Amino acid sequence: MNEVRGALVFLVVVVGSSGGAKSSPVRLGVVLRDEYDLLSTATAITRNLSRRSSGLDLMVGLTLIPSAVPKGAVCLDGSLPGYHLHPGFGSGNNSWLIQLEGGGWCNTIQNCVSRKNTRLGSSKYMEKALPFVGILSDKPDENPDLYNWNRVKLRYCDGASFSGEGHNETSQLYFRGKRIWLAGMEDLMAKGMHNADQALLSGQSAGALASMLRCDEFRQLFPATIRVKCLSDAGLFLDASQMLDAVDGFSKSKKNGVFINSCFAHVQTERKGMWFAYDSPMIGDKLQLLSAVLL
Ligand SMILES: *[C@@H]1O[C@H](CO)[C@@H](O)[C@H](O)[C@H]1NC(C)=O
Ligand SMILES: *[C@@H]1O[C@H](CO)[C@@H](O)[C@H](O)[C@H]1NC(C)=O
Ligand SMILES: *[C@@H]1O[C@H](CO)[C@@H](O)[C@H](O)[C@H]1NC(C)=O
Repeated sequence: MNEVRGALVFLVVVVGSSGGAKSSPVRLGVVLRDEYDLLSTATAITRNLSRRSSGLDLMVGLTLIPSAVPKGAVCLDGSLPGYHLHPGFGSGNNSWLIQLEGGGWCNTIQNCVSRKNTRLGSSKYMEKALPFVGILSDKPDENPDLYNWNRVKLRYCDGASFSGEGHNETSQLYFRGKRIWLAGMEDLMAKGMHNADQALLSGQSAGALASMLRCDEFRQLFPATIRVKCLSDAGLFLDASQMLDAVDGFSKSKKNGVFINSCFAHVQTERKGMWFAYDSPMIGDKLQLLSAVLL
C-alpha cells in the first residue's frame, strides 16, 4: 500500500448487467505502480507505437443534434450538442459503444462563463472531426474487441458530467447535461441503437463519472435480455485508501469488476500510447484491459 500513499488512484470500473446472457464472473485485479514507472513507460511507448499502429488514424466527423433544441438540451452557451459516430460492420453491426468525453468541470459562474468560449462549453468551438483511436479505433490490431462496433463519442459541453439541470439568465448559462445525455441517446436509438444486441457505456475522467451516474438509465434503454455494461475509466477521484474501502462492497458482487491501477495514467481507453503500452496493467494473461474485463 505504500505506493499509493497520498496519491490519486485511477480506477476502471466495469459495472455489468448481463440480463439473460451467460454471465461469467468478472475477475478483480489490483495493480499498483509508482510514478517512476509512468515516466519510463511513456518513453518506451513512443518507440513501440509504430509497431502496433497500422496506417492513419480514422477521422470521424461531428454530427450536431438539431432535435435537441426543443428539448432544451444545449451546451453551456446554448449551442447544439453533438457526437461522432462511426458505424459498426460485420459481426459488430448491432453492437454499440458510447464513449462519453471528459474534460473536468466548471464550478463557479465565472469559470462556466469562461468555458462557454471553448469546445467544452460550445459546439461552435468543437473540432469538426476527431481521430478515433484506442477503444474507438476501427483497426482490429489496435482494438480487437470493439473495432467493428458502432462507436460513438458523445461530446461534453455542459460542464457537469452530463448531469446538470439549470439555467442562469443573467450569465446566459445553460446547465443541461442531463438533457444532452437524453437527447443524444434518443437520437442514437433512432439511428439503429434500438436494434443493439449488446451495448457498452464508457467514458474517461469527467465522462467516466458520467458513465457511472448514467449507467442505470443506459441499462433501461434496452430489453433485459440485451447485455449492457458500463466502464468508468478514471472516474473516481478520492483519497486512495478511502477509495479502496469504498469499493470493497461493490467489488464483491459478481456483476461488477474493479480494476485499480495507480499512477499508470489518468485515463487509458482513448490514449493511443496508454492503450498500447507494452507494460500496461494486465489482468491474467490478457494484453488489453477491455479483453480482460469485458468479455
Ligand atoms: C516494445 O514492446 C516489447 C513487447 O512487445 C517489449 O518487450 C520491448 O521492451 C518494448 N521496447 C521498447 C523500446 O520499449
Ligand atoms: C447567476 O449569475 C449571476 C452573475 O452573472 C450571479 O450573480 C447569480 O448569483 C447567478 N444566479 C444563481 C442562481 O446562481
Ligand atoms: C445491420 O443492422 C441493421 C439494423 O441495425 C440492419 O438494418 C442491417 O441490415 C444490418 N446489416 C448487416 C450487414 O447485417
